[in-house]
Amino acid sequence: MAQKMFISNANQVITMAGHSDTPAKKEKMSKISIMKHGSIWIEDGRIVEVGPDEELREKYRTQIEDAVQIDATGKIVTPGLIDPHTHLVHAGTRENEYAMRLKGKTYMEIMEAGGGIHATTRATQKASHEKLYEESKKRLDKFLLHGVTTLEAKSGYGLTLEHELKQLEVAKQLQKDHSVDIISTFMGAHAVPMNEKKNPEKFVTRVIEEMIPEVAERKLAVFNDVFCERGVFTPEQSKRILEAGKKHGLIPKIHADEIEPYAGAKLAAEVEAISADHLLKASDEGIKAMAEQGVVGVLLPGTAFFLMAEFAPARKIIDAGVAVALSTDQNPGSSPTISLPFIMNLGCLKMEMTPEEVLTATTINAAHAIGCADEAGSLESGKKADITIFDVPNYLTLSYQYGMNHVDTVIKSGKQVVVGGRLQ
Ligand code: NIG
Ligand code: FE
Repeated sequence: MAQKMFISNANQVITMAGHSDTPAKKEKMSKISIMKHGSIWIEDGRIVEVGPDEELREKYRTQIEDAVQIDATGKIVTPGLIDPHTHLVHAGTRENEYAMRLKGKTYMEIMEAGGGIHATTRATQKASHEKLYEESKKRLDKFLLHGVTTLEAKSGYGLTLEHELKQLEVAKQLQKDHSVDIISTFMGAHAVPMNEKKNPEKFVTRVIEEMIPEVAERKLAVFNDVFCERGVFTPEQSKRILEAGKKHGLIPKIHADEIEPYAGAKLAAEVEAISADHLLKASDEGIKAMAEQGVVGVLLPGTAFFLMAEFAPARKIIDAGVAVALSTDQNPGSSPTISLPFIMNLGCLKMEMTPEEVLTATTINAAHAIGCADEAGSLESGKKADITIFDVPNYLTLSYQYGMNHVDTVIKSGKQVVVGGRLQ
């Protein structure tokens, strides 16, 4: 017999309906489709119907008794949140660098001196599969407690074939064991290892000839990402790495124009990347090229906040016709947070996005940024029943009462995995 679930009488069900084929752009980012006093009927982990409470109660009246019933009175219901850019799998923390930055050292200075990504690479290389798994699982639990049901996770702290594979294997194991869905990205080109600084080309060749084919062969990643930044990988090297990935079926993503303008946005359009992420310093020309090509712009205001940098010009990017998604960029150096709701707060308060736009950016547009909009990101019949219930009376309160966790219940594929703000 089918497993049934009835979520009833929410103050607002935010469905995000109608954006599954193409991501929401411009004013469509404000079309979040609110159903007042809404209910959802679920069978076997999939959404069957979203509708007014009275109507669904009547239609399913003979089956409600057999269903798991969740009373959402006074609360709001949204699609499970989606985080399209994380460095989830890594070992250790870098609070020492945080203290250094507070005294005036810059992120890039710390990295050039062998800290930053290199520090986390040393810790990650040293960590066993089991230790890496434990540390990453703890973070994943916290993501779930903050309403996230799907996230993207990058490698890039291994920087050798062996350790890049270890990171991706940990992500694969977590995908099997944990209720949060993980979509993996290979990011061997996250930094040139310290001992290869004199000959970065040798490392680029290894990424292209050794790592990409092996990762693709083992089916350990869907995407291929590069840190295209002055002092890291040039646009020309990034292009070769992303094109090489494409030959092996890996879809390009790019860390673009984060610290300095560096033609990353333009390159994203050129290689037909699914998304370009960061974009703090993206050129107008690059933004236009992204809009024309349909590259999703993933903005990471937590990183600007934590690096005390200028925020990405979200309004300009949205007005140019780029579909915008938001993400935590969870990592130990530039954004050690797991709170996507806080990122929504920052989206509003620091990038002048509207409360409607930030909801779109963390659900359906985020799904498009990682290629899962056919399955997740909206509450529509046939989709996975990935649902977050927030204990707030309306969606405005989510971005108004900032820096708090309002999550009450999380449902993943029709199963209650968080109840009353606690893991089940
Ligand atoms: O997205 N910019 C490059 N990568 C990460 C930071 C990684 C780290 O500092 O460990 C980012 O900001
Ligand atoms: Fe990142």
